[in-house]
Amino acid sequence: MTEYQHVTADMSVYRDGTIKLHGPEGFEGMRKAGRLAADILDAMPEWVRPGVTTEEIDTAVREMMLDAGAVPATLGYRGYTHSCCISINHVVCHGIPSAKTLKDGDIVNIDVTPLLDGWHGDSSRMYVAGEPSVKARRLIDVTYECLMLGIEKARPGARLGDIGAAIQAHAEQYRYGVVRDFCGHGLGRLFHDAPEVVHAAKAGTGPELRPGMFMTIEPMINLGKPHVKVLSDGWTAVTRDKSLSAQFEHSIGITEDGCEIFTLSQKGLHKPPYA
Ligand code: MF3
Ligand code: CO
Ligand code: CO
Repeated sequence: MTEYQHVTADMSVYRDGTIKLHGPEGFEGMRKAGRLAADILDAMPEWVRPGVTTEEIDTAVREMMLDAGAVPATLGYRGYTHSCCISINHVVCHGIPSAKTLKDGDIVNIDVTPLLDGWHGDSSRMYVAGEPSVKARRLIDVTYECLMLGIEKARPGARLGDIGAAIQAHAEQYRYGVVRDFCGHGLGRLFHDAPEVVHAAKAGTGPELRPGMFMTIEPMINLGKPHVKVLSDGWTAVTRDKSLSAQFEHSIGITEDGCEIFTLSQKGLHKPPYA
């Protein structure tokens, strides 16, 4: 049985398994945090080029967050010590920034989560260093389409499974693999909360979507099989078959008649090419 709970400020911080239904104050908070996430991602195209280290990008992200009065929610999160995740090529998610330099043709996901005035704006986009292959560009395009097709299903009365079903149907049309091991999630004052938003599902299943629910949709789509493994650093998730992987993520809120995307680019920089 799915439980729902209209939140007040004091109870919205507890991870008690209920799906929280937020009011206008929550929407206002998420709009600001989401806007900051989007603004930071809007600044990333100039950083992603051959020769740049992912540590340098991490530093730039951290400074933008601190300058805006936010903190990186990932910093110190379950022992993670960086301000964003940067996942290159066959890295599916949770790539750790390092002294490694980007090279020509790399495809790169940057995932940022500023915590601003108590609210989490969680979003990621793909970027390309130099010239990616045709196959890589198509994977990126289809992954973006998967995210937006999922978001189109997000409205009151729909079921959570409708989102995953739309994503899975689109990805599998191209024989791509939809990652099952990582999901979207509820968020708000908490970074990761109920419900789990799976990206491969049966339509008509799962909890009903209701106004005031906040969640991320963040499909990870592989050029090959869906299977992933986590490296010995405890974070870096890679495709088992070493195939390329792409991901886009938005934070959304269910409204009376659809949904609001909190992390939409203000500059129209939705997907590459950004030039
Ligand atoms: N931003 C990621 C997400 O989309 C979570 C990163 S947690 C970290 O849910 F610790 F790896 F940074
Ligand atoms: Co997320
Ligand atoms: Co994220």
